[in-house]
Amino acid sequence: MDYNRPDLKLARKRTNGNTLEIEYSLDDKYKNIGNGKIYNVITFGCQGNEADSEVMSGILEQMGFTNGPKENADVLIINTCAIRENAEDRFYGTIGGLKALKQKKKDMIICICGCMPQEEKTITKILDKYPQIDVVFGTHNIHMLPEYIYRAQKSTDRLIEVYSTEGNIVEKLPHIRLSKKKAWVNIMFGCDEFCTYCIVPYTRGKERSRRPKDIIDEVKGLVEDGYLEITLLGQNVNAYGKDFKDMNYTFSNLLLDLSDTGIERIRYTTSHPRDLDIETMKAMQRPNIMPHLHLPVQSGSNTILKRMNRKYTHEEYLEKINKLKELNPGISITTDIIVAFPGETEEDFNETLRLCDEVDFEGAFTFIYSPREGTPAATYKDQIDEATAHKRLDLLHDKINAGYLKGNKRFEGKVVKVLVDGTSKNDENILCGYSEHNKLVNFKGNKNHIGTIVNVKITEAKTWFLIGEEVE
Ligand code: SAH
Ligand code: SF4
Ligand code: F3S
Repeated sequence: MDYNRPDLKLARKRTNGNTLEIEYSLDDKYKNIGNGKIYNVITFGCQGNEADSEVMSGILEQMGFTNGPKENADVLIINTCAIRENAEDRFYGTIGGLKALKQKKKDMIICICGCMPQEEKTITKILDKYPQIDVVFGTHNIHMLPEYIYRAQKSTDRLIEVYSTEGNIVEKLPHIRLSKKKAWVNIMFGCDEFCTYCIVPYTRGKERSRRPKDIIDEVKGLVEDGYLEITLLGQNVNAYGKDFKDMNYTFSNLLLDLSDTGIERIRYTTSHPRDLDIETMKAMQRPNIMPHLHLPVQSGSNTILKRMNRKYTHEEYLEKINKLKELNPGISITTDIIVAFPGETEEDFNETLRLCDEVDFEGAFTFIYSPREGTPAATYKDQIDEATAHKRLDLLHDKINAGYLKGNKRFEGKVVKVLVDGTSKNDENILCGYSEHNKLVNFKGNKNHIGTIVNVKITEAKTWFLIGEEVE
């Protein structure tokens, strides 16, 4: 059997080759092959994966499939994440559990995609231990899904189609979006940063930006369809446009053009501190660009930042934050932090704690460093022991939780605008949604206002959410 298998060394390559723009359309041959059949998609990982899953759902529905529970699925797709070992463990837990399901429903087609298949070790393991998996593809070819399903329906041979190319751009993809009011919008793909701990540049290919017109048209379409909020996605959105050879058009230009579409709320993730520029900070003064920035710092120690290849210092990060706050008073800042990166000393870690105080983060995703095969940091000799890592994570949590509460407290007694997502998980009579500063708000209000933006007076701040009442 010929397989197209990944190669991490090849995936590292960056040439000056032009990015191909492909227009997706569904071949007649694949229309209706899902009629009367059910699909289900299980998604792990970042918003990029969630957006890809919405595209795959769109493709499958064009083929005639209907969404349904995984137990009844004729096609089951698992979209995987390789960012840390525990993400991979969760995938293996899920796939192990599907063995029995597949035995009961022999014609079920189980597909694996996303970042894990881009690693050689995943393919070896799947071939060795997981015969229940029928189709494996990667991040570069989700638009080929119709052909893969067609081939899997015709043959019991396993299909492995993973490419370690630099990556192209596929336009005109269909979406079935989970929300009717909030949408993910990819503005670029891949990453060229090569932080020494990170697998993403290998699994997602080179940085490549969608053309501004394609993005603006997509957002105009969303406005027409009644969407209120968009979140622009990319691994390093501040690098948007740097790959255009025929024009000078950057992330701040895009923000302003999208602001002009009249969409109520614009968010974006993720920013890289080195590439965040003054023009972007100024663009954030527009009322429909939300006053929240997620700016991953990873560490407060200059030694560690250097070893991570982050290309900025503690002081430079702080300088950007101060400028951002000066231009956008009241902005909420959140971050990502890795503890126990190889070689991190007590002093290095204390530098991270000091930075938290200096910035006043209002939230953070915190991680223990997880070695990723094929990345430089995995070969560093001075790995940190687990006990030290956990101790540091606990200390960091205390600091971050205090920041969450302080960030929430400043809204007590104030009126905030909330896009109402629905009723609270724990109480049917309580509504919930997010404020402009991206704070979760639980409040008493009118259920008819679900899917709209309402004013909520905040009565109490908790660590993880705000409590309030809807007002006129
Ligand atoms: N492109 C984004 C997000 C990358 S993944 C960015 O650069 O900010 C999200 C987060 O996962 C990263 O910010 C980092 O904090 C964390 N992460 C990435 N690789 C990791 C690893 N090997 N171990 C632990 N955390 C990691
Ligand atoms: Fe990974 Fe760094 Fe790229 Fe973020 S910027 S995806 S952390 S390599
Ligand atoms: Fe995970 Fe890939 Fe996203 S590794 S975080 S799914 S880019």
